[in-house]
Amino acid sequence: MGWQSVGLVVVLHMALLIGPGSGIGANWGTQATHPLPPSIVVKMLKDNGFEKVKLFDADANILKALSKSGIQVMVGIPNDMLLSLANSEQAAQNWVAQNVSSHAVDIRYVAVGNEPFLAAYNGTYIGLLLPALQNVQSALVKAGLASQVKVTVPLNADVYQSSSNLPSDGDFRSDIHQLMLQIVQFLNDNGSPFTINIYPFISLYNDPNFPTDFAFFDGASSSAINDGGRVYDNVFDANHDTLVWALQKNGYGNLSIIVGEIGWPTDGDKNANPKFAQQFNQGFMSRVTAGKGTPMRPSPVNAYLFSLIDEDAKSIQPGNFERHWGLFYFDGTPKYPLTLTSSNGLVPAKDVQYQAKKWCVMSPMASLDDPQVGPSVSYAYF
Ligand SMILES: *[C@@H]1O[C@H](CO)[C@@H](O)[C@H](O)[C@H]1NC(C)=O
Ligand SMILES: *[C@@H]1O[C@H](CO)[C@@H](O)[C@H](O)[C@H]1NC(C)=O
Ligand SMILES: *[C@@H]1O[C@H](CO)[C@@H](O)[C@H](O)[C@H]1NC(C)=O
Repeated sequence: MGWQSVGLVVVLHMALLIGPGSGIGANWGTQATHPLPPSIVVKMLKDNGFEKVKLFDADANILKALSKSGIQVMVGIPNDMLLSLANSEQAAQNWVAQNVSSHAVDIRYVAVGNEPFLAAYNGTYIGLLLPALQNVQSALVKAGLASQVKVTVPLNADVYQSSSNLPSDGDFRSDIHQLMLQIVQFLNDNGSPFTINIYPFISLYNDPNFPTDFAFFDGASSSAINDGGRVYDNVFDANHDTLVWALQKNGYGNLSIIVGEIGWPTDGDKNANPKFAQQFNQGFMSRVTAGKGTPMRPSPVNAYLFSLIDEDAKSIQPGNFERHWGLFYFDGTPKYPLTLTSSNGLVPAKDVQYQAKKWCVMSPMASLDDPQVGPSVSYAYF
């Protein structure tokens, strides 16, 4: 092979590296009391080199801001819509017409539900997910969008487990095993990816004996797992490949995988701080930029960081850390230095307008016994 062809191979390889799927994505949640205007967030996504964004619904103002942005979008369908979408093809067609067809946005995926099999939901969505997926898929076919827009469902990593600590012993959870196979078959038939949310922080949060260094990407030699010659020195790889084995064991070893959420919070727990968040996210990003995947899937992981901006109106039922997942504070100020792609550190949101600082003083005419005092104070506070 002459040097010209070597050069060609290098160029092709680089083109693959920056091709679709390899760019980094962000989750853009909006459960905030003071959300930034969508146009400011879209500018911030572009300034920081995000190529993809994942939404939790299909907010028309957000989609409008994303139109012609060049950013690829995963729109979401909240769990509370699964019942109507499962029961009515017409509802699914209306959803697609209003939330996909009508926007000049590069929508690549529809996320049907969000972690619907979480134990906290008591099985509410178990029977609804597959029919909802099928109806949304049929609606996309009817709208002529099925080749460009794929349905998927972001699942929590508790849908699979390993009977030992080895990824190769992975399989789907026994109580939903049959259902998972039907879902995987459906995804496979429609060229859709399996979307999984993986949280090493939660491993640490749930288990005081969990080895801290195994949560990060710095080579935790003391807790490394040797799985038939594949060495796992971090829980992300081990968890991800447990899924790969579960898929492979059931005949779907080639199904593509998207990591729908990955990240680390900065407050609300002893392990939630900017230092650990920086260490985790930078460790993860450095692997993505270096084109490195997991032992079972060596190509770079296709992932959406969780999360772009703090959401101060989220339920803290999962834990006090829940409002602190952002790379940025509520106003688009970066929390810590992070090299995402080629950039050098995070770029703050621009042109943010702050409200004037104001004091509310209780009227001398008012009485503390007035039942309106509580609501008025809440109103003034927010
Ligand atoms: C479109 O999505 C929005 C936001 O998720 C939702 O409120 C609305 O009901 C959807 N439209 C239809 C026709 O389902
Ligand atoms: C699930 O069950 C528990 C205990 O019965 C209950 O407290 C909780 O509200 C239920 N959650 C949902 C989403 O139904
Ligand atoms: C998976 O992909 C490889 C490479 O494209 C192919 O050789 C193999 O037959 C595929 N396996 C299945 C189960 O589809």
